[in-house]
Amino acid sequence: MSLEIQTFTAEEGLFYENYKLIELTCILSVQILREFIPASRFKLEGMRLMKLFLSLILSFSTISLSFGQADSTAVLKNTGQHIYAGVERCQVCHEADEIGNQFGVWQASKHAKAYQTLLSDEAAKIAKEKGLEKPANESPECLECHVTGYSDPKAEYGEKFEKEDGIGCESCHGAGEFFRKADIMCDIELAKANGLIIPVEEDCLRCHNERSPRYKPFDFKIFNEKIVHKLNPGYKCEGAEDEDEDW
Ligand code: HEC
Ligand code: HEC
Ligand code: HEC
Ligand code: HEC
Repeated sequence: MSLEIQTFTAEEGLFYENYKLIELTCILSVQILREFIPASRFKLEGMRLMKLFLSLILSFSTISLSFGQADSTAVLKNTGQHIYAGVERCQVCHEADEIGNQFGVWQASKHAKAYQTLLSDEAAKIAKEKGLEKPANESPECLECHVTGYSDPKAEYGEKFEKEDGIGCESCHGAGEFFRKADIMCDIELAKANGLIIPVEEDCLRCHNERSPRYKPFDFKIFNEKIVHKLNPGYKCEGAEDEDEDW
């Protein structure tokens, strides 16, 4: 015996539920009508009835599909998505002084240089010590903590993604292809539902641990102070325009 398991997205689920409901109504109605219509006329009336039900089904499915779509930004584009958009996609909004220039803080931090570091003499020395076959900047053993998304088995990359950006915004805040959209970013809960992570100490420990060949004991408070990049307290989100889809 084989067991069939069907899985649905929320959209399909909604459609399927409505569809099942309509199907059930059809069967019931046909049976009730059978009681009242003489057998000889049943075929004719039955045809008319089927036509009516078919048009009902069509209109219902259109309604349920459009419900599904209205919902989709909130539910469907969830953290299951792993498309890393690239720092430039965040820079467009997060470089402005009014918002607090988080981009500028990041750019001046060591995280922005994490890939370049792998091209240094020091990195070559470490790679040699470890007996790596390839140079540090081509070795998964190093890229894992020095390039965004490298340790994410489901990672996909957007057009603007550059490995040269090292440890970018999305290393800590999650793959941003969906939450970066203006209509989503202004609502933090919606942004989280679309993959935004507000990082805590644990997220840093993924890389700041003893597997780092040049590990420096990690103290969250001290280290976090060095990269602090707050939103400007006077800043009000007004649902920024997102006309250019190609950001
Ligand atoms: C269309 C402009 C825009 C883009 C693009 C954008 N952001 Fe934002 N982001 C904002 C605005 C505006 C806010 C402030 C929202 C508010 O006031 O609650 C914000 C807030 C945030 C917050 C703080 C959330 C909170 O309330 O604590 C984080 C983290 C963040 N963005 C990360 C990113 C990352 C990472 C990217 C790139 C993948 C990105 N943003 C791209 C406009 C943008
Ligand atoms: C995906 C890996 C990764 C994550 C996550 C990460 N870091 Fe780092 N961090 C690095 C790497 C790699 C460097 C070294 C970059 C270099 O020098 O080229 C570094 C360097 C730093 C430095 C500079 C240290 C020094 O020697 O001056 C600070 C501060 C820092 N990280 C803070 C944090 C904090 C706080 C978090 C969590 C909120 C965090 N990092 C999360 C990879 C990471
Ligand atoms: C587990 C994550 C991790 C891995 C794997 C890793 N690094 Fe790093 N690397 C870091 C972090 C984090 C730092 C910042 C120093 C610290 O706090 O550990 C760093 C810093 C460095 C530095 C700068 C040291 C300094 O004193 O400024 C070099 C060079 C470096 N790594 C090279 C490498 C090479 C080469 C490899 C591969 C053999 C590698 N790293 C693998 C996380 C990692
Ligand atoms: C090394 C990890 C790391 C990187 C890289 C990083 N952030 Fe953050 N970000 C954090 C942490 C930690 C916080 C503080 C969360 C909190 O308030 O508890 C934060 C907070 C924020 C906030 C909200 C600040 C507030 O006042 O609420 C914004 C906006 C933000 N980041 C945007 C960005 C952008 C844009 C980039 C890239 C240019 C970026 N971050 C890169 C770790 C990171």
